Amino acid sequence: MIIIDGPSGNGIGKSIASILNLELLECKRKIFADGESEVEVNGMVKDKEVTIVQSTYPMQDKNLQELFFLANDLGERGARNIHAVIPYLAYARQNKKYEGKNNAISIHAILKMLNAVGVTTLITVAPHNVESLSAFKGKVMVADAITPLANELKRSTTNPFVLAPDKGALKIAERFATVIGCDHASIGKKRDTITGEIRVLDAPEGDLRGKEVIIVDDMISTGATTAQAARFAYDHGASRVIASAVHLLMVEGAYERLKDAGVREIYGTNTIMYDKAHVVNIAEAIAKVIAV
Ligand code: R5P
Repeated sequence: MIIIDGPSGNGIGKSIASILNLELLECKRKIFADGESEVEVNGMVKDKEVTIVQSTYPMQDKNLQELFFLANDLGERGARNIHAVIPYLAYARQNKKYEGKNNAISIHAILKMLNAVGVTTLITVAPHNVESLSAFKGKVMVADAITPLANELKRSTTNPFVLAPDKGALKIAERFATVIGCDHASIGKKRDTITGEIRVLDAPEGDLRGKEVIIVDDMISTGATTAQAARFAYDHGASRVIASAVHLLMVEGAYERLKDAGVREIYGTNTIMYDKAHVVNIAEAIAKVIAV
């Protein structure tokens, strides 16, 4: 198998190739004056199995498009099987129709386009909702980012408590708590789909007094969900609040929002490059999946 480190591979492709001792081909990216991308991979791919590593944030559309160009080109050059590792899969949250709206389920279109350019295996990390990936016709594998993140937090805390900021993050919280060996709970949130405002619905079971509360989620976008949970944790006696999410999008002043809410540290992974956090490299977790 050949690993192709896409232009937005965040170095993960390089690490995977070195962990699994596989051939690595770099990808050159050129942006023309009108904004169009050109991608170029040099090397023999005919009859070879290839794995392209390309994350998709920031510039979701550009990165996805470059992935489509790459996959299509490798297929036309005779690659045998084309696997895509997409550490952060953009549009995964656009996976359902909202009440009273006729919004497109964009993730379905992305998955169908991957199939159309010849991708047969999709490997991703914390994809928001695994069920919605069934629109991809082929093999879907999800790498476990929670274990390495939780292990990092286990080393960095002495009296931890894991808190899910909403019910959707409860499964993540359970896995974190199991690895760390501590208690966990979730709070309920309701987001106004028009204003984006978040309300806390109910209180968790479990005593947060004096605890280092680790708020866990699949992603931090604006930080509103985590900030709300951080305030909640301090109101219930937390001594220190840490935020942890697999994907750190950190948009619209998320960092300042978290700091204002008293979040002391942020932990994430290199599915997205973000330099104000403790970053755990998830290459090994992905390599394990590829090696299966
Ligand atoms: C939502 O379902 C996700 O799991 C995250 O909780 C959400 O995307 C976080 O967004 P924000 O940081 O903007 O509150």
